[in-house]
Amino acid sequence: MKDKIVLITGAASGMGAATARLFAAAGSVVVPVDLDEPGLENIAREVNAEISFAGDISDSGFCDHCVDETLNKYGRVDVLVNAAGIIRRTDAINTDDDEWRRVMAVNVDGLFYMSRAAVRPMKAQGAGVIVNFGSIWGSIGAENTLAYCASKGAVHQITRAMALDHATDGIRINAVCPGEVNTPMLASQRENPVTQSDLQALADATIPMKRLADPEEVAKVVLFLASEDASYMTGALVPVDAGYTAQ
Ligand SMILES: NC(=O)c1ccc[n+]([C@@H]2O[C@H](COP(=O)([O-])OP(=O)(O)OC[C@H]3O[C@@H](n4cnc5c(N)ncnc54)[C@H](O)[C@@H]3O)[C@@H](O)[C@H]2O)c1
Repeated sequence: MKDKIVLITGAASGMGAATARLFAAAGSVVVPVDLDEPGLENIAREVNAEISFAGDISDSGFCDHCVDETLNKYGRVDVLVNAAGIIRRTDAINTDDDEWRRVMAVNVDGLFYMSRAAVRPMKAQGAGVIVNFGSIWGSIGAENTLAYCASKGAVHQITRAMALDHATDGIRINAVCPGEVNTPMLASQRENPVTQSDLQALADATIPMKRLADPEEVAKVVLFLASEDASYMTGALVPVDAGYTAQ
């Protein structure tokens, strides 16, 4: 992955940050994107990013700007990693219009806007890779996570449909589908504060391997999917879930 130009959304935290570190260690030129400006500045410094973009991916103009400015600086975009996402832990009755719209706007619209912006230059280059962040909740259901489940189901289908559209353009598009990963998102949006021992109890009760994932364990699969080692893979939804969806 040396010298590859790699745009990563959600790079300020969790798996996006772990992915940014791993690509930087592999010699890639990382271009971090995130809404969280202080977090973005930290990761940009850590991975020696020359450019980074603070803003909201649910704004298509911002997504076009990220890709255009990356092209202005480097002349190409080799890899897009769509890691940005949000969760709301409610059922239908307690999901108001704004909450529904916000989850869809970030997880679905934002991922689509970034992918549309990036796939244009990738097609012109005749090469490119997109790695999306799906979820186990895009394939199976979960209680009190309605909008999130719906949004990740859409991510899985965007992955498949776009992969088919660009299968002969030299562009591969796949998704990682993580299970329970130890990031700020996992403990967020819960009724009561969650401790690490609560999370271990969750793992013991629900995960075949009885432990949460470290963000790096997912980032390593993203790196593999982005690399030439995955040259025959497109349109794949790759579970990284310790057997969760094998049950
Ligand atoms: N943590 C898990 O257990 C888990 C499991 C399966 C899938 N996922 C998915 O993996 C991805 C990464 O999750 P994480 O756990 O690392 O989350 P996280 O909350 O640690 O990081 C998400 C990042 O996305 C950024 N972001 C949110 N909205 C944005 C927007 N509108 N524009 C730009 N940036 C925005 C946040 O600021 C944050 O830095 C997400 O798509 C998430 O849905 C997480």
